[in-house]
Amino acid sequence: MTVANTLSWDDDLALGDERTDHTHQEFIELLNATTAAAPGNKLAAYQCLLEHTVEHFSQEERWMSACGIAPDFCHFSQHASVLEVMKEVERRAQAGEHAYIGSMIEALVEWFPMHASSMDAGLVSYLQEKGFDTATESFKDGSSVKVDGTAPDCGHETSHSCG
Ligand SMILES: [Fe+2]
Ligand SMILES: [Fe+2]
Repeated sequence: MTVANTLSWDDDLALGDERTDHTHQEFIELLNATTAAAPGNKLAAYQCLLEHTVEHFSQEERWMSACGIAPDFCHFSQHASVLEVMKEVERRAQAGEHAYIGSMIEALVEWFPMHASSMDAGLVSYLQEKGFDTATESFKDGSSVKVDGTAPDCGHETSHSCG
């Protein structure tokens, strides 16, 4: 079985929020650039992807925090788990074990479309419903924080506790 190590942007991945879609397109470009990089440039390309992913996740987390979503909500912990593994792969690659980068890319290719179509899609429609503008990172009425005790749909069963 051939395992995919690239992603392509298509309409199925578009969530309808300009800033999110732009960030996700950049993520795909950096992931593909890591796959395409020559062995001597692989770690540097991977580090660009990692740096971008740190910012990508913290952007979504800022938006969730602006809505008062508790830090134990599953979207935060899923980001944290992915970053933990990505950072471990960087450490291994820095120690000369470059093969881990290829495995990490394959895992991200499988993970990203699922995450985007569940947790990120749920977040985008939640933010739109709340009137949160991701370009200005503020609500339509001008406030920067609005807490109403609700949480976005994350794709989990309703019986699953998401924090
Ligand atoms: Fe995302
Ligand atoms: Fe996310």
